[in-house]
Amino acid sequence: MMIHPVQRVMAWTLLWTGLVVLQFVLSAAVDVEEVHHSSVLHRHKREWKFNMYFAMEELPGWLLPQKIGQLINTEAEQKPYTEFQISGEGANGLFIVNDAGEIFVTAPLDREKKSSYKLNAQIRDSRTKVRLEPDGEIHIKVLDINDNKPIFSDIPVRSVYERAAKGTEVLTVTATDADDPKTANGNIVYKLMNGTNYFRISNQTGKITVEDSRLDRETQSQYKLVVQASDMFGKPGGFTTTTVVTVNINDINDNAPAFIRGIFRFTVKEDVKTAFEIGKLTVKDQDEKQNKNPKFTIQGNNDLFFVYRDDDGDGALIIKKGLDYETNPSYSFMVTVSETDVVQPPDSQGSVVTSARVLVSVADVNEPPFFTQTEYKFLKV
Ligand SMILES: *[C@@H]1O[C@H](CO)[C@@H](O)[C@H](O)[C@H]1NC(C)=O
Ligand SMILES: *[C@@H]1O[C@H](CO)[C@@H](O)[C@H](O)[C@H]1NC(C)=O
Repeated sequence: MMIHPVQRVMAWTLLWTGLVVLQFVLSAAVDVEEVHHSSVLHRHKREWKFNMYFAMEELPGWLLPQKIGQLINTEAEQKPYTEFQISGEGANGLFIVNDAGEIFVTAPLDREKKSSYKLNAQIRDSRTKVRLEPDGEIHIKVLDINDNKPIFSDIPVRSVYERAAKGTEVLTVTATDADDPKTANGNIVYKLMNGTNYFRISNQTGKITVEDSRLDRETQSQYKLVVQASDMFGKPGGFTTTTVVTVNINDINDNAPAFIRGIFRFTVKEDVKTAFEIGKLTVKDQDEKQNKNPKFTIQGNNDLFFVYRDDDGDGALIIKKGLDYETNPSYSFMVTVSETDVVQPPDSQGSVVTSARVLVSVADVNEPPFFTQTEYKFLKV
């Protein structure tokens, strides 16, 4: 994928001088290697002095055609009336050679589409057109410029438990860059643009970990983190891309239950049928439902009342036996709430009411005469 032409020219201009120099240094290096290896094993290659040339991608029109090298056949060097020809990939179109053996690139190349071209070089007598030496294979490698941005792959929403230890992995983000990964152009570094108090990213791997082990779902249950990927090792002049990563904080049981007040008052008619729910002892526990596990205990022997945990985690106050206003018009007792599996220390909730007084008033009912004591007892559960 190519960048806007203006950016391309800018990127190109920055690198131009350096790469032209590099081009010749590399050609020379190939030559040295060739000389080194050729004496015994590759005698035939020695005749073509260079077998590799370098051309930059995305050269602007005003620099084309541009010379990328010189064909030299060492055997035919001294012969008069020679001319060079090329054939193969891009020959006589994208790449041209003149009689003197100078190779030119004539149009912009795109390394991300094709990074290397294979051609054949030929030398012949310019008068008779007879080949003077066997053809030589040459390769033209396309040099990368930074003409591609990093691109993030899709990042799903991830989650991590509250209070997770520092260093706990949350997810790894990945960005790709079509430029040559062996050069700075395709080398990506990652940076967290915000949320660094809570999370950290590895600049090389994109791995995001927990930085603060005190993440608290009850304070903030979701973080949106802006992550940046930059090529050119993150140095100025490179391309950057950002994405937003959503991290949900999962609940653990780190809040202790507490009664919402210290006294609960109820009134109940003496003729209700057992077991009857008089009312709720409402509990506050900021954890999610699955992490609420309160246990209720009535202080002292109490054969009349019972508290059980309802679906919402509140205490449901139940009468086990029938009441009689004439025998006892009111009751007072303590109920405590506790949770054994809460993580210690629990989140602070200020002053926690774990013990409440329950006051039950029995309301008199005008009882029908046939309602005998014997029948009443029969209704017991
Ligand atoms: C980071 O910035 C984004 C975009 O401005 C914002 O939505 C998000 O809440 C910020 N996250 C943090 C942890 O500050
Ligand atoms: C990447 O992180 C390491 C260790 O934190 C640091 O030494 C290095 O300078 C960073 N590299 C870049 C390009 O930011």
